[in-house]
Amino acid sequence: MLRIWWSVFLIPALMLLYAALARLLPLKRIYPSPWPLSARQQRLADEMLRRMLWQFALALAALAFMIMQSLRLLPMATQQFVSYGIIVLQLLAVTAMVIPIERALRNQPDEEETMEHTKIATERAPAKVNLLLAVGEKRPDGYHDLVSVMQTVGVWDELTIRAHTDGGIALTCDNADLPADETNLCYKAAVKFFSYTGVTNDGVSIDLKKVLPMQAGLGGGSADAAAVLRGLRRLYAPELPDAELEAMAADLGSDVPFCVRGGTVSVRGRGERLETLPCLPESWFVLVKPPLACSTGRMYGLIDEGRFYDSGVEQAEAMAAALDRGDLPGVCGAMLNTFERVLPPDSEIFTIRQRLLDLGALGAMLSGSGSAVFAVFDREDTARMAVGALRGTYPETFCGKSE
Ligand code: C5P
Repeated sequence: MLRIWWSVFLIPALMLLYAALARLLPLKRIYPSPWPLSARQQRLADEMLRRMLWQFALALAALAFMIMQSLRLLPMATQQFVSYGIIVLQLLAVTAMVIPIERALRNQPDEEETMEHTKIATERAPAKVNLLLAVGEKRPDGYHDLVSVMQTVGVWDELTIRAHTDGGIALTCDNADLPADETNLCYKAAVKFFSYTGVTNDGVSIDLKKVLPMQAGLGGGSADAAAVLRGLRRLYAPELPDAELEAMAADLGSDVPFCVRGGTVSVRGRGERLETLPCLPESWFVLVKPPLACSTGRMYGLIDEGRFYDSGVEQAEAMAAALDRGDLPGVCGAMLNTFERVLPPDSEIFTIRQRLLDLGALGAMLSGSGSAVFAVFDREDTARMAVGALRGTYPETFCGKSE
């Protein structure tokens, strides 16, 4: 019987053989496409063909086997005739395989089109620390005058911003503790950008990957908002000057203008008067976030209650001079944070600060209004050893370079 039927297994066998060898003998060599394919489309075509060959070959062989078994009692001539019919049908099936592949390829834009039609910007949102944070008296508008030096640190959240045409602002975040709705500062930043610039929003989605701890005084939320502004500028208005972006940022929060600019910056007023300083000499920061949370409003309130105000002018001058000289110990010697004055003497913050100093930090201090503590190291290996020593007790311990 196999003398008649062997031929119906020939096509499935050839299909399986080609599926196994497809990587060695790509489709484009034996069957050049009738229209030009991008590399991505070619990969897709090859992959689809290989999968369909496996599936079709097995299905055709099983079908042929079942027909062979059912017809084995019929006369030889009839069996021969049916086997030829099956081969013809198999050939038709193989030819028809091309149709779904072609259709999928036509609906699949090539790489260049994808880039052009879905504009994407990825932005890092790095942490900030205040090397100096002197809080002055409360102003009539409820804010406090600050004398501050802010520094960008290379530990960051990551944002992917996509412009599309589905309308609205869609925000997603991998941290469920952070509401991904219109109360989120990223969302507010996008609203601000479109209203300020007058650019029509056909639709934008923002995907936030959170690394920086929240309620830490590391400026995570402000950094995310600044990253949204920078990303939207890249997508919609590359000509927009930095000053305009910083003006929008000031409406979003006191730290956001600095986060737009980054680097080593003198910050005055409520947080909107910026002046770029010489870069901090290369240094390594260790950031430690204990579980306790500090509310910014409450911390300012405690300063007001005790009238623990600082002018910070002396420290600001000393720090600016040390930066001019490229003198890292000099910078650390001028560090000050008024918020440390409202903490109880037995606060965990001071324990962490002392541990960091014992581990070789040139300076260590509360970051912003807390509750993270940062430490400055002049060597990466010492900084990483400190991280190793603290991470067991404080899982939210990070290490990043000055940026
Ligand atoms: O501006 P932002 O929303 O970041 O400020 C949060 C809170 O911090 C304000 O509501 C205010 O109580 C306090 N703040 C202040 N003086 C500043 C900055 C912030 O009193 N210069």
